[in-house]
Amino acid sequence: MDAVTVDYLKSGMKAEAERTAPPPGFPPLPLVPGARYTDPAFLELEQRYLWQRSWLFACHADEIPEPGSFYLFKRTGSPIIVVRGKDGQIRAFYNSCRHRGAPLVRECQGKVDGLVCGYHGWTYGLDGRLMNLRDKRDFVDLDLSKYPLHSVRCESLGNWIFVNEDPQAEPLLTHLGPFPEQLEEIQPGQVRFVHRKSYPVKCNVKVLLDAFLEVYHLKSIHQNTVDRFLDHRGTFITLYKNGHSLMCTPNRRPDWQDPGTRGMRRIETASEITSKNNPSFNFYPNLVTPVDATGNPFILFWPTGPRSMEIEIVWFAPDWGSGEIDPLWQTRLSNFERILEEDTQFAEQIQESVESGAFKGITLNYQERRIYHWHEELDRRIGAERIPEALRVKQVLKDWVAS
Ligand code: FES
Ligand SMILES: [Fe+2]
Repeated sequence: MDAVTVDYLKSGMKAEAERTAPPPGFPPLPLVPGARYTDPAFLELEQRYLWQRSWLFACHADEIPEPGSFYLFKRTGSPIIVVRGKDGQIRAFYNSCRHRGAPLVRECQGKVDGLVCGYHGWTYGLDGRLMNLRDKRDFVDLDLSKYPLHSVRCESLGNWIFVNEDPQAEPLLTHLGPFPEQLEEIQPGQVRFVHRKSYPVKCNVKVLLDAFLEVYHLKSIHQNTVDRFLDHRGTFITLYKNGHSLMCTPNRRPDWQDPGTRGMRRIETASEITSKNNPSFNFYPNLVTPVDATGNPFILFWPTGPRSMEIEIVWFAPDWGSGEIDPLWQTRLSNFERILEEDTQFAEQIQESVESGAFKGITLNYQERRIYHWHEELDRRIGAERIPEALRVKQVLKDWVAS
């Protein structure tokens, strides 16, 4: 972060801590209709216009280290292989043979010399070109060059690899607005992969995602953990274009350091904001990352059904050179799991609530406005005209989005 951004965030947090009401002119936020979390037709629109058209984190470059290493990504309903080519370049393809659709790889992760279909043996290069097929004499005029694997957009921010099923999507780094520059200080091209784990939760994906877009809940559910070191009343939020947002929460004491990270390797270039506060980014739609000089998790939210989801945590650490990773990471991961349990505890019952006839909508306050911003963006992506009026959200935050 440059000095201007650091000052902007510091003075923003100070002003938040001192204010006695929302800023003048801030609009009351309309109810977010509960049916947006349950209605099958709405969730189908969301699947088609959001999940299958967004930049989504797939894997870290370390997870596919060598030519032929692949990672199978199936979070949008479509099977997508992310694979490193002989030229070192990372590409993504649908895991779907051009003959009759059988998969080229069946493991979630692995290493191959080429992509060979197990059904009838069509063989593709790591760059997706169809190289060879059995009994070519039986195909009339089949031009191999016309049958490459269908490719999927695949772009990176440093070592973080994203895919997007929308061929027209704007480039990832443009789409992310100021984030790539703001995150340069934690060196996305240097951080290394540590660990990945998913946890199933019985709720609509948005129920849990909402919890990671605000800190209003700290005093209730994180009394003995996060609330002890973060001051939620100083939280300063910036809403950005494309649904992204940043929430920066000050530590209670400027000299405080998470005991769980004491003694860990630190990224030298991390700014004061990252070292002494808790900046948490939401890459729209489903990636939340609270960054820190000692490493950061990607907290990812994946729908697995209308009433089920998985929260996936992928950890990254500053480059630790050769040898084993610092054993302190074990404690770090288990501490985080404890916080995660606190965050997930109500999700299933919230889902029951929103399913009930009594629940009409979600009431949001000023410090929960990232959730409203998230929903506004969803309607823009789906196209309001496709959404039944009773399920739409009014667009009220436009003047509160950073230009
Ligand atoms: S489906 Fe792949 S070779 Fe037949
Ligand atoms: Fe939380």
